[in-house]
Amino acid sequence: MNTHHLIGALVLMAGSTSLFAEQTAGIPQNQVKERETFVSHLMKQMTLDEKIGQLNLVSVGPDYPKEAIMADIRADKVGGMFNTVTKPDIRRMQDQVQYSRLKIPLFYAYDVVHGQRTIFPISLGLAASWDMNAVATSARISAKETAADGLNMTFSPMVDITRDPRWGRVSEGFGEDTYLTSRLAHEMVSAYQGNDPSAPNAVMANVKHFALYGAVEGGREYNTVDMSLTRMFNDYMPPYKAALDAGAGGVMVALNSVNGIPATSNPWLLQEVLRDQWKFKGLTVSDHGAIGGLVLHGVAQDDRQAAAMALKSGVDMDMADNMYGKYLKGLVADGMVTEKEVDRAVRNVLNAKWDMGLFADPYRHLGPVSSDPADTNAESRLHRKEAREVARTSLVLLKNEHETLPLQKKGTIALVGALADSQRDVMGSWSAAGKANQAVTVLQGMKEAIGDKATLLYARGANITNDPAIVDFLNQYEKQVINDPRPAQEMIDEAVKAAKKADVVVAVVGEAQGMAHEASSRTELNIPQSQRDLLKALKATGKPLVIVLMNGRPLTLTWENEIADAMLETWFSGTEGGHAITDVLFGDYNPSGKLPMTFPRSVGQIPLYNSVLNTGRPFNPQKPNKYTSRYFDITNGPLFAFGYGLSYTQFSVSAVSLSATTMSASAPLTARVTVKNTGKRSGATIVQLYLQDVAASISRPVKELKNFEKIDLAPGEEKVVTFTVNEKDLRFFNDKLKWASEPGKFNVFIGLDSQDLKQTSFLLK
Ligand code: BGC
Repeated sequence: MNTHHLIGALVLMAGSTSLFAEQTAGIPQNQVKERETFVSHLMKQMTLDEKIGQLNLVSVGPDYPKEAIMADIRADKVGGMFNTVTKPDIRRMQDQVQYSRLKIPLFYAYDVVHGQRTIFPISLGLAASWDMNAVATSARISAKETAADGLNMTFSPMVDITRDPRWGRVSEGFGEDTYLTSRLAHEMVSAYQGNDPSAPNAVMANVKHFALYGAVEGGREYNTVDMSLTRMFNDYMPPYKAALDAGAGGVMVALNSVNGIPATSNPWLLQEVLRDQWKFKGLTVSDHGAIGGLVLHGVAQDDRQAAAMALKSGVDMDMADNMYGKYLKGLVADGMVTEKEVDRAVRNVLNAKWDMGLFADPYRHLGPVSSDPADTNAESRLHRKEAREVARTSLVLLKNEHETLPLQKKGTIALVGALADSQRDVMGSWSAAGKANQAVTVLQGMKEAIGDKATLLYARGANITNDPAIVDFLNQYEKQVINDPRPAQEMIDEAVKAAKKADVVVAVVGEAQGMAHEASSRTELNIPQSQRDLLKALKATGKPLVIVLMNGRPLTLTWENEIADAMLETWFSGTEGGHAITDVLFGDYNPSGKLPMTFPRSVGQIPLYNSVLNTGRPFNPQKPNKYTSRYFDITNGPLFAFGYGLSYTQFSVSAVSLSATTMSASAPLTARVTVKNTGKRSGATIVQLYLQDVAASISRPVKELKNFEKIDLAPGEEKVVTFTVNEKDLRFFNDKLKWASEPGKFNVFIGLDSQDLKQTSFLLK
């Protein structure tokens, strides 16, 4: 039966939901021509109402309960759904499709950002691993678990470049760097989708938030973005493009405006850049309520106009505000929107459903009822081993004086801090379907590791914050922070008592996970005062002090860095976080993570990042001069630079040797160094290559990351690390927005962080 007959049959035959399955068996997946024929024929059968229904992406909520959604599905008013995450729930929804006229299956999406059931480190932590295998493992398992719950799409990866840690969503992205984020974007999408998003262990990736959401002014959530085109294309756009080049099926449109025009009503962004220049053929969805938001942005007079603007600009699906459902029909009747414009969006939705395999089988990923897990949250559905391995790679050792770390499993250890015993916090924000009661805390990890070899004394010491307004804020939507009602001093005294009995103090301090989330911008980046008071008291005991940080953004840690003997950044490291952290604290794993974002000394320095322009009066710390680009009231530069992170062993890096001192488009060169493990332990490190275009038609950054490699070295072992440098690596968007290289001198830097680098140079002919 050909596809034409198939659609005819579909309309005639009501009843069985496996209709598509029976009839389309044998239609090969992802074959564009077949898909086009199929979708075109389907669209011919659709009324305008049914088409508009396909553009509606809905979520259950107090105003829109399941029963109402089910009724709307039966009435062909829904195209897809998100936030419904168990097989039985999803199946109940998908079952309704059979009562609709055309039986077009829905797709089901969710924000699986760093794990579905097994929670991996937050994205910023994944980025800190600089370990593509670890990142791919996390995304493959996320996809597997997401598909196993019957879902078809993840609203991930989030690849917004973030250079302002006041913004709570820096936790969700991969940090400040364009190259690192682009590599991770590509890796995540490839791992989520494989080469077929309909495959049993795959889901479609919906990359977000297009575009530039990470650059909101002042780090204030949902704020304005205003940016030069050269910065936009050189620094902020490449990660989205990298995700699309890896085949991402979807794009989520950002909530912010871009140079005055909201992304949601921005045809330049959604048509010219995304579709015309980048040739994106997939599905665009608005962010939550963003179409209605156009009125508040002040570009649409009312919701009706907003719906017209969004559709015309290229937003295919409407997330959660039903603006298309309410207004498109009337807009078409009035000639404000053409049916062709509606069709364009509908085609993208149906194509995505085809790619998800839903026309071949509406129960794709769901399977029969008999395949449902007896217990959705069963332990057997988790991937703990992989989560622990990945989490270990994400930890960054910031300081380690007198070899305070690793700890020995003997004597007495005082473990202090509310975060050491918080299952909810260790998972981080956007923890999808992860269950806090399955997460391993540091307390639990330490107890297991120590057994009866040493004494472990635990004291809470302080609440994460004692500020009642902040506690209320954090508990607004989820009761996540439960404060100990005891007076602060009583808790501190208890911790000090434990510390005095101990050989070493491990203080786990930082943010509640909800502080680093959507809608969680901060003006200060310090550890909350209650915990700083605790640290002060612990320091006064004179005992060696190990600070273990849990947080979702760079914090200002100048004072903590002064008082700590050792400091370990652990982000929010997921379900197996407590095990991973303990592995590192006791030296069962040697840390190799490197910062994906600069840690400033003070909020006032923000934005502070690696790939800055030099200015005409750069500051030189060796020869400080008043009339240079600096602050006079602080030590200039970061506390911890991009790419920084220590190991329990030491490495030396040789001078850089180049295969040639000139290069051309046809003759790339190689840059190599020899890295040696000069210490006593095996360890891994990340060798980083940076380039600088010394003189060009526009100012170019003082250095830009262009490649990196993670290597493992046994004590005394050395390895040669070779990077190929191509002419393409030297290209940038010039002031005409042409992507080209320019002949001249280039500096090459190689090292183990962005500041401690070996340098040489070559000429591009
Ligand atoms: C966020 C998106 C998310 C969506 C659906 C929005 O508020 O900005 O990142 O995908 O909600 O949960």
